[in-house]
Amino acid sequence: MSGHWFDRLKWSFSGETHYQTMNGLFGNTLKPYSQLKAEYKTIKEQRRHFAVTKHVPYANVRDFKTVQWYPGKHPCEKPLDLMRHIIEASSRRGDVVLDTFTGSGSMAIACRELGRAFHGCEMGEIEFKGAVERLS
Ligand SMILES: C[S@@+](CC[C@H](N)C(=O)[O-])C[C@H]1O[C@@H](n2cnc3c(N)ncnc32)[C@H](O)[C@@H]1O
Repeated sequence: MSGHWFDRLKWSFSGETHYQTMNGLFGNTLKPYSQLKAEYKTIKEQRRHFAVTKHVPYANVRDFKTVQWYPGKHPCEKPLDLMRHIIEASSRRGDVVLDTFTGSGSMAIACRELGRAFHGCEMGEIEFKGAVERLS
């Protein structure tokens, strides 16, 4: 299934000859090929990035080691490996990642490592200071 939904063919575009044949079958009611192609290009550029590879495999369930306790640990600190996986599968280098529940700042650290800009929100003053400290 993953081959069906995520392969590159999904984003390939019909050639003009085939399109005109199809247009003929529909009584020449389809929009001009050049217009359709321009619209499609915009969609293709704007769609959310989703890239899974041998190194960033896709699965519904993935295992990552939990972060072991250490003094000052955020109770919900997520493993950096998990954050790296999410970032690499769903963004490109240079993209901006928004994490509205920053907590320990794991996502921010992974973003910095992988060349993504980071915007975060954290309402807890202690948690915020902890994240800033971790980042610096
Ligand atoms: C589950 S933790 C996030 C853990 C984070 N992913 C990590 O790896 O450390 C949720 C965090 O979101 C913060 N939070 C909850 N509601 C919030 C809100 N409305 N605005 C900003 N931060 C919020 C909490 O203080 C908490 O630190």
